[in-house]
Amino acid sequence: MTPPRPESGPARLAGLLRARGVLGADWAAAFAAVDRGRFVPDVIWTPDADDPAWLRPVGRGDPYWAEAVYSDVAVATQVDDGAPKGADGRGRYVTSSASQPSLVLGMLRALDPREGTRVLEVGTGTGYNAALLAARLGAENVVSVEVDPGLARHARRRLADAGLPVPVLTGDGAQGAAAHAPFDRVIATAAAGAVPYAWVRQTRPGGVVLLPWGTPYASTGLLRLEVGVDGTAQGPVLSRAGFMWLRSQRGPTGGWRSYVDTSAPVRRSVTGVDPRDLLRMDSPARFAVGVLVPGLAQVDFHAADGSGEFTLWLYDGSGAWASVDHVPGAEGAAVEQHGDRRLFDEVEAAYAWWLRNRRPDRERFGVTITPTGRHTWLDTPDHPVP
Ligand SMILES: C[S@@+](CC[C@H](N)C(=O)[O-])C[C@H]1O[C@@H](n2cnc3c(N)ncnc32)[C@H](O)[C@@H]1O
Repeated sequence: MTPPRPESGPARLAGLLRARGVLGADWAAAFAAVDRGRFVPDVIWTPDADDPAWLRPVGRGDPYWAEAVYSDVAVATQVDDGAPKGADGRGRYVTSSASQPSLVLGMLRALDPREGTRVLEVGTGTGYNAALLAARLGAENVVSVEVDPGLARHARRRLADAGLPVPVLTGDGAQGAAAHAPFDRVIATAAAGAVPYAWVRQTRPGGVVLLPWGTPYASTGLLRLEVGVDGTAQGPVLSRAGFMWLRSQRGPTGGWRSYVDTSAPVRRSVTGVDPRDLLRMDSPARFAVGVLVPGLAQVDFHAADGSGEFTLWLYDGSGAWASVDHVPGAEGAAVEQHGDRRLFDEVEAAYAWWLRNRRPDRERFGVTITPTGRHTWLDTPDHPVP
């Protein structure tokens, strides 16, 4: 007889991951032993049904809380760096979350720790991922760094209560944790475009640095760098991994209107860039354009008349901006741009590079980190991205 399906708790979550075929023998015991509900705080955040631009709090007593915590979904655990922007207590931006369990598991798999492996985690958040690492490797082999003192305190307490007393340092994880180095693995659970060299320096040769990498303009991919004996680290983007940014590497925040002055003089042109290729956050063209054009941000506005027309507004947060109109069936798209930096010319050049290179997706990119900088490449290190 089949045993009844557990309704809640870690067994339910492990069951979901097993049913999806992602939970194997390597991590099964850790996922069964660590209760996500012990790490997620009493209040989580969910989009407000009346106005999805805002997030409303949901308490532990609400059935939605347990439903979300024991499902394969990301759970927002902090908004607006802990000070909700809404006068009514609602929040605007998610600033910490318990990541989607299948993504957590995918990252742990890619990290590939062995018995005795010493791991540094950057971005403690709830402490759940640190607990999974500690359940597998022993708390003495895990160190975690969290920039937000309140979150660090919460995680430290929950880890201790669970009998997994991982040291949780409060500070900027971009500095690593020099006093606890060297590590065999560094895993960042906040995204970075500029990979902090401290992570490479604090990892033993043969070790691995794993992080969500990309640009705030587009989606991020899971970058797996292997550290060499010469102080460099190199490796490919493995798969999509959407994460929030290291605090110091966030893109422009706030409404696009604060960065775009539509009354300013503009240069007009027509482009062969297909704006539809830049529309979706996870589109391959957008990933490539984000890598080639630093500091880009974008919003889109769609005609309400069902015509399929839309306008993309691109801006860099320091005064330069461009708009491009998509009109179905039209030949070329109308562009306006303003500022010393010709933002759309840069986008056009990046898009042409993307077309010339057979429309690469993020998994064709790779990165080499040296003490003095970063080289991004396509397919192999000898094919640098301009
Ligand atoms: C997606 S959450 C991490 C999820 C976490 N690993 C867990 O298991 O709950 C990202 C976290 O990174 C933290 N963070 C952002 N910038 C940071 C930095 N520079 N150093 C350390 N932590 C940082 C955020 O405060 C947030 O808690």
